[in-house]
Amino acid sequence: MIQAHAGGAGAREIGRTGFRLARCRQSFGASRGIALATKNTLPGIDAFPDIARGLVDVEEALTDTVLVADPSISETTSYLLKAGGKRVRPALVLLGSKFGDSIGESAIDAAVAVELIHLGSLYHDDVIDESDTRRGLPSVNANWNNTIAILAGDFLLSKASEIGARLGREASELLARTLGDLVKGELRELTNAYNLESGLDDYWHVIENKTAALISASARLGGMVGGTSQQVTNDLAEYGFRIGIVFQIADDLLDLVSTEEEIGKPPGIDLVEGTYTLPVIHGLNGPNGDQLGKLLTPFTPAADGSRRNEIGDAELTEIRDLLRESGSITYAMDQAREHLAAADQALARLPANPVRDALEAMGEFILARVPLPS
Ligand code: FPP
Ligand code: MG
Repeated sequence: MIQAHAGGAGAREIGRTGFRLARCRQSFGASRGIALATKNTLPGIDAFPDIARGLVDVEEALTDTVLVADPSISETTSYLLKAGGKRVRPALVLLGSKFGDSIGESAIDAAVAVELIHLGSLYHDDVIDESDTRRGLPSVNANWNNTIAILAGDFLLSKASEIGARLGREASELLARTLGDLVKGELRELTNAYNLESGLDDYWHVIENKTAALISASARLGGMVGGTSQQVTNDLAEYGFRIGIVFQIADDLLDLVSTEEEIGKPPGIDLVEGTYTLPVIHGLNGPNGDQLGKLLTPFTPAADGSRRNEIGDAELTEIRDLLRESGSITYAMDQAREHLAAADQALARLPANPVRDALEAMGEFILARVPLPS
């Protein structure tokens, strides 16, 4: 079992650099008053002291990894890590690994690698989406600029590759393939932006690749580093894939039905960006489709590049009401529940134990974020 880290990835760097990194880490904690022992925000995790401890190790290793000797660079590379996050992907790695051996160094490495890919992709995503906020803070591109955000994201991805290489060829290939999946999902989303005709096939392709692939890979990696059987690893991957889909549908619904306080960014951003998600695609193909299409059109860039780039409360309410009326919100929730049921079927094939119960609770927790009457 892993003890509290004497030194994570950063501590593998040498001599004076190591000293400066230690100074950086002090200021990392101090600058925002963030305790390195992060609070567990996932249900049921506290019941597993080894996982809770493992997540502290992951947090320390992440901190060491994102810091470089130059504090001005570290400020950008550590920015999103400091901003918080639920660490769903690392938790999945650790939970998955518990179906095999006890949590070892490989599990911590795998957990760090998947979180770095996730964080790196968010740096890039905010540049692509021209987002000003992330996790309730100004985004990196807003705080610095696009080039810095891209390069800081690249740095995190490079660290994920370096750590992935320590896990061996199969894990390394999985991480690389997953990076490719993220890019494929994001590309399909972009090529369909503002397309009122985009259909469900496009939607599933986008979310399977941009979101479910990494969550699935996290659960699969957990099984792999825990040395579980091929069958258990595949079932974990299937569970991760399905809850990844649930996660994204919930996220897409939250953009429509939540407040800024609840999601840490203004609601309705997907509509402004021309990202038409499951409820919207359903609504566009229903009886209110024409009305919805008219409400969405002002956001589409005109020939001279002009467009509305903010959605008013009145418009958002109107769109929400039309979607409610056409049963589109309910449709999306039902789809999410179907995928949650498929996730539970994958879990049912795994050995019955408290970890399996925690995974089941995690699936329900993801959907419970959506503030809707069930
Ligand atoms: C957030 O989704 C973004 C993703 C899940 C994936 C982003 C992928 C890329 C930018 C491709 C390039 C990736 C790498 C690793 C080089 P969202 O925009 O739906 O959610 P948000 O509201 O949190 O931004
Ligand atoms: Mg985005």
